[in-house]
Amino acid sequence: MHRALIAPVSTPMGSLLPPAGIFLAKKSKGTYAMVATVIDGKAFAATVRGKVAVHVARLKADHGITPGLAVVLVGEDPASQVYVRSKGKMTLEVGMKSVEHKLDIETPEADLLALIDQLNNDPEIHGILVQLPLPKHLNEDLVINSISPAKDVDGFHISNVGLLGTGQKSMVPCTPLGCLMMLRDHHGSISGMNAVVIGRSNIVGKPMAQLLLNDSCTVTIAHSRTKDLQEVVRRADIVIAAVGRPEMVPGDWIKEGATVIDVGINRIEKSEGGTRLVGDVDYESCAAVAGAITPVPGGVGPMTIACLLANTVTACSRANGLVEPEGLTA
Ligand code: GUN
Repeated sequence: MHRALIAPVSTPMGSLLPPAGIFLAKKSKGTYAMVATVIDGKAFAATVRGKVAVHVARLKADHGITPGLAVVLVGEDPASQVYVRSKGKMTLEVGMKSVEHKLDIETPEADLLALIDQLNNDPEIHGILVQLPLPKHLNEDLVINSISPAKDVDGFHISNVGLLGTGQKSMVPCTPLGCLMMLRDHHGSISGMNAVVIGRSNIVGKPMAQLLLNDSCTVTIAHSRTKDLQEVVRRADIVIAAVGRPEMVPGDWIKEGATVIDVGINRIEKSEGGTRLVGDVDYESCAAVAGAITPVPGGVGPMTIACLLANTVTACSRANGLVEPEGLTA
């Protein structure tokens, strides 16, 4: 097992992590002793971006090719604007070309499709991402499926979904890819483990389940209609929480020593005023039982953009018939 990317943290009691394998009991009055190893997604994402940067430099030096990523944003959703800005900045930081297209919220579908067609045919663009969700008048499926599968760095095109589902080489959705990388790094192999994915979205839940299955996990997809969810979760060696409901999973649903990957990013109001970010699991109580856990923020979130950059350099390498970067694909 690798532990290089794991950061010890102060517990609510101010002490450091106990030795691996020691599980402390719940403290009184809702205070918990932290026993889980914290999987540091921020540090891991920095190493992934570093590997991307090395490969980009090689593509430039050896072949005169600069990978290019185009991001399309329709409308002015504040959260999407933040993501898009951050993607643009990090794309440039790893040495790639970054192109942003910001379209009016009322943009007709035909105009968006024409832009995608232009990007599909632009030899300097190797990756295309259309930020979701799209305004209601636009057909999301139609738009996604108009992106060339080879440039679909989100891995949402039906061709890529089908390739992933049949275990073939594809573009893999960024958030699940980031989760898989962290699991592989932490466990070495996850073969034979019981994995429960809570959430069945096309962006995270379904591709995550496929990736876990491809790595020989026994996979359950749970969702809002699942009966006895806590019993299902309690059987899991790996829990992926991707429901978008703040702190929905309490520690007493978690099997001792399980690995908890929290995909949720929810902003909630603090009792003393202001807001804070929380995940889909109750961090404190889950960290008192789990063997390893990703924090929010600083866990899965940074890995998503790092994997977008990884997918872009992979797409660029494939488009030019060159060797793919190692360790950056599923
Ligand atoms: N909106 C939220 N997550 C994503 C993502 O991974 N890709 C795109 N295109 N839009 C998103």
